[in-house]
Amino acid sequence: MRIGVAGLGTVGVGVLKIIEQHGKLLSDRTGRNFEVVAVSGRSRTKDRGVSLDGMTWYDNAVDLASDPNVDMVLELIGGSEGVARDLCVAALEAGKPVVTANKALLAVHGTELARLAEKNNVPLAYEAAVAGGIPIVKAMREGLAANAISRVYGILNGTCNYILTEMEETGGDFAAILKDAQDLGYAEADPSFDVDGVDAAHKLAILTSLAFGTPVDFDSVYIEGIREVSAQDIAFAQEFGYRIRLLGVARRTEQGIEQRVHPCMVRKDTAIANVSGVFNAVVAEGDFVDSTVYEGRGAGEGPTASAVMADVVDIAAGRVSPTFGIPVDKMTDIPKIPVEEH
Ligand code: NDP
Ligand code: HSE
Repeated sequence: MRIGVAGLGTVGVGVLKIIEQHGKLLSDRTGRNFEVVAVSGRSRTKDRGVSLDGMTWYDNAVDLASDPNVDMVLELIGGSEGVARDLCVAALEAGKPVVTANKALLAVHGTELARLAEKNNVPLAYEAAVAGGIPIVKAMREGLAANAISRVYGILNGTCNYILTEMEETGGDFAAILKDAQDLGYAEADPSFDVDGVDAAHKLAILTSLAFGTPVDFDSVYIEGIREVSAQDIAFAQEFGYRIRLLGVARRTEQGIEQRVHPCMVRKDTAIANVSGVFNAVVAEGDFVDSTVYEGRGAGEGPTASAVMADVVDIAAGRVSPTFGIPVDKMTDIPKIPVEEH
């Protein structure tokens, strides 16, 4: 399996490290060998702490798609438009499997990319795009496939959870804690996506599609971030036995599917209130399985690269599902409650 990696930041470097350190394990598990043969980034000279020896360098990441030595493309650049989207389209059109961690891209163009993947009969995989190291895409798509889902909700942004937890535990300042989250590799390239709730909304839009078999509809997500949460809010919540968490909630109502992201008061004795730091948690409720809970690190090099490689391994082993668990022409367009009605 000859891999082309576009994007050599937190996630891309993590992927290179896993392939280097766990080559034998991966090969024993799949019967395939994994080799990174080509890479792309902005700066060719930057020291990334990993060896790029023997790998072809591309200044234009889209060229990875047409490299005859590349069997699979990993898009780890980010952004809903531009080179990330162009690369995914080019690779799918060339019949090459795509693995991406890019929730912004999938939230905006997910249905169209899934259609393209189906048309070309190639996998488009994105485990790392939702809740970092938690295998929530697999859980929703395969584990809960026999259920009608009524609600899926949780803590979907590691940076915000880290900030809220640190503010509560250390009384630290919002801006300084955000800076720590950036230094730890948790935050988006533009951290306003994290603190304004947009990143959690991207992930929620993807989860909604997986849960309800509907086209991805980011525009219907009501979004409020954590900028307005003050130390005083956190202290008052504490006094009354609550913690503040940024939640994403998608649920089926009589009027349609409601998708919302905003800070919530959660009782201290609930599982979700005890999810701290960069950890994420997702609760999915199905009619036969009842309530299921998933927890793990939601951001950072190791957990995210682990999720990317889970997709790589699945594809190498021939385990492939429709992108959102259901072919695009079988999706049901259940109405979404518009933002202005929340
Ligand atoms: P970084 O900012 O650390 O890395 C982005 C990489 O993309 C950099 O190596 C950069 O190159 C490269 N890049 C930027 N523009 C181009 C371009 N035009 N052509 C080629 N390469 C380019 O981001 P992350 O690794 O944190 O995130 C990557 C993706 O993974 C994003 O979609 C993000 O949302 C997602 N993600 C991130 C998680 C995390 O915890 N960090 C968790 C889950 C998903 P250079 O280094 O030369 O500047
Ligand atoms: N910036 C994101 C977060 C990365 O903090 O959750 C993981 O998707």
